[in-house]
Amino acid sequence: MTKQTYLTGITTTGTPHLGNYVGAIRPSIEASRNPDNESFYFLADFHALIKSQDTKNLKQSRMEIATAWIALGLDTDKATFYRQSDIPEITELTWMLTCLTAKGLMNRAHAYKALVQENTDSGSADADKGITMGLFSYPILMAADILMFKANKVPVGKDQIQHLEMARDIAQRFNHHYGELLVIPEVVVEERASVLAGLDGRKMSKSYNNTIPLFSTSKQLRKSIMKIKTNSKEPGEPKETQDNTVFEIYRAFATPEQTQAFSDAYAEGIGWGDAKQQLFELVDSTLSEAREKYNALIEQPEVVEQILKEGAEKARVHSHALMTEVRKAVGIR
Ligand code: TRP
Repeated sequence: MTKQTYLTGITTTGTPHLGNYVGAIRPSIEASRNPDNESFYFLADFHALIKSQDTKNLKQSRMEIATAWIALGLDTDKATFYRQSDIPEITELTWMLTCLTAKGLMNRAHAYKALVQENTDSGSADADKGITMGLFSYPILMAADILMFKANKVPVGKDQIQHLEMARDIAQRFNHHYGELLVIPEVVVEERASVLAGLDGRKMSKSYNNTIPLFSTSKQLRKSIMKIKTNSKEPGEPKETQDNTVFEIYRAFATPEQTQAFSDAYAEGIGWGDAKQQLFELVDSTLSEAREKYNALIEQPEVVEQILKEGAEKARVHSHALMTEVRKAVGIR
């Protein structure tokens, strides 16, 4: 088998939560340990800038997310871990791709269309009200992220599938005009099981405000878990495991044997308080070692900075090489 190049970006807004861990961080760290893969993981801080102009928050979020990945065991010698904004070639490639991308393709992006629809529904005279060019051309920046490193596998959530299709379109167009320089990426969609439910039962997401933070204190973690919405079944009444948030989160952290025992306890009518306590103990013990590392590292931002700098240097060997070819191909030395 030829070496597969995995690449994925993490938009640096918000505080890392259990859903990020189960859905993205844990599988990525596992994939990075496979010697058959080459992996690129990066902090998409230029993408974050599209969503938020809160300078302090952006900085804080970027630090928390970088620290979390490192504390959880990402091997930054094996994987290339960097910050998007440290790779100037990415914005350069973005422009080259922008000049090739049909505006009509961007008009069809779901995220853009949803905002236009909102404006139209609210009776606004301007359908593009509040929409920046950054948001409009977001998929081109994302295409540059991917194409720069010749990634052939891109693990993302379902909401990002269309962006991957656009990246393929854009790459094909480039190759058609300038020769086969870019690798056509494939999407790898996270399995349904890796989408974690949040406090209210919907997908755990910062946009729903229903998250459980990864690295709070034990006490805060317990408090969050106790807030998970459950039904009004009394202790002693048998309970359904299906679509039950407490059970789903438990399963995401447990061994098959632990999950079976928990399922038996449901059938035997465990009370919600006890079930949540068990969930708390499992999550707390799973994360306790990483939490210690996290708490130590977050006090040493210079260590994290250094790791990111080294990552950027590794990444720039690739980006520099590709851009040299791209400049030549398009006729700009
Ligand atoms: N847009 C992605 C998200 O919000 C993050 C991202 C940016 C990304 N660039 C990427 C993901 C490149 C995969 C590949 O989830």
